[in-house]
Amino acid sequence: MYKAPRGTTDILPQEQPYWELVRQKIVAICQLYGYSRIDTPIFEDARLFARSIGEETDIVEKEMYVFQDRGGDRMTLRPEGTAPVCRAYVEHGMHNLPQPVKLYYIGPAFRYERPQAGRRRQHYQFGYEAIGDADPALDAEVIDMAWQLYTSLGLSHLQLLLNSIGCRECRPKYLAKLKEYYRDLAGQLCADCQQRLVRNPLRLLDCKRPSCQRAARHAPRSADHLCAACLEHFQQLQRYLGLLGLPYKLDHRLVRGLDYYTRTVFEIQPRGVSGAQSTLGGGGRYDDLIAELGGKPTPAVGLATGMERIVLNLKKQKLPVPQPPPATIWVAHVGDAAKAEAIGLTAQLRRAGVAALMGMGGRSLKAQLRQANALGVSQAIIIGEEEVARGELTLRDMVAGQQQRVPRSEILSVLKGRHLGTDDI
Ligand code: HAM
Repeated sequence: MYKAPRGTTDILPQEQPYWELVRQKIVAICQLYGYSRIDTPIFEDARLFARSIGEETDIVEKEMYVFQDRGGDRMTLRPEGTAPVCRAYVEHGMHNLPQPVKLYYIGPAFRYERPQAGRRRQHYQFGYEAIGDADPALDAEVIDMAWQLYTSLGLSHLQLLLNSIGCRECRPKYLAKLKEYYRDLAGQLCADCQQRLVRNPLRLLDCKRPSCQRAARHAPRSADHLCAACLEHFQQLQRYLGLLGLPYKLDHRLVRGLDYYTRTVFEIQPRGVSGAQSTLGGGGRYDDLIAELGGKPTPAVGLATGMERIVLNLKKQKLPVPQPPPATIWVAHVGDAAKAEAIGLTAQLRRAGVAALMGMGGRSLKAQLRQANALGVSQAIIIGEEEVARGELTLRDMVAGQQQRVPRSEILSVLKGRHLGTDDI
């Protein structure tokens, strides 16, 4: 027996209403905030991610699906969407457009992680990037948009965590301080963090192991070591969040798992739940990334959120989702001539905009009506030998159980009279 690969999930029809609702809200919110959709390839040149997310990150070191294609090129199934969007921005000369360019995407991303609820090897991300402006008002707007998405879905008890990790001016000095702080604590760190101390000290702050968390308790804070311009940006952002009525909590240990961030970083989490897989959405500013990928220096900010995690939280909070309507009409038939008639009629109904199903496989009339009932269909049309001979149809109300004979030629106007199907019948 084959099974879906570990860490991947079939999204079955009964799950789809949740996903459909989330997608609808996403499209509506993107329109409100002025974002246009972009779709980038599922795989990209492996160097794109190593260069942007960073060689020393868990994603690049341990989690990427890398493969060599038949032409010998090293490709990666995308682990996230920011780097591909920036690659597209540069490749298509989008710096010539009015700035900021606002782009959003929905699609699968791949990370070889230890699977658990809300942490999949293939997950779907909704992300959006505002490229071409350094204004902290844009950071605030990006955060506000995620907040509005979640609340418009009915999610509550959320918290916004915020930090600033500085820029290439002030961060090196801060990292030196951090290394100095950790010098005497190295013995308490896990093996990974021993490496991080040398290669990527910022990441020491978000290690989830208790001994590393203890060691990080009194670590110097990036927000206390910002240069004047970064401090001003961070203060303005907080002021704007206040203006938008968005409550936030400063989290000095929030550094994010990707290396391209500068200044602002943030995450939105359900309150009272911790752990990496609880984060609903996260993002930040990445003012150096476009230049790193070969474009002109261009500031940018964005956020991504896992669709699975949104759905998980909708279910946890028992929020209702609209169900798709069942088909309107079931065309039941008995005998060969009736079947031929049913095929034509069902097609005619569908072409007139009425959602119609017909019985398949030569089942008895009783079995066909039972199936229609189980599917929640409200009306059935029954065609038997007698109906064929007389040029009539039997219309049955499946709820009331009442039946009436209708001339074949009048069926569409009768249905229209009952407000079944679209107006153009
Ligand atoms: P990220 O924090 O790595 O950021 O992922 C964003 C969101 O995707 C997470 O908050 C989570 O909801 C979801 N997610 C990530 N990994 C998984 C997984 N294995 N299973 C299920 N859900 C997952 C980024 O990817 C950045 N590109 C965000 C960004 C956009 N920064 C700026 N612009």
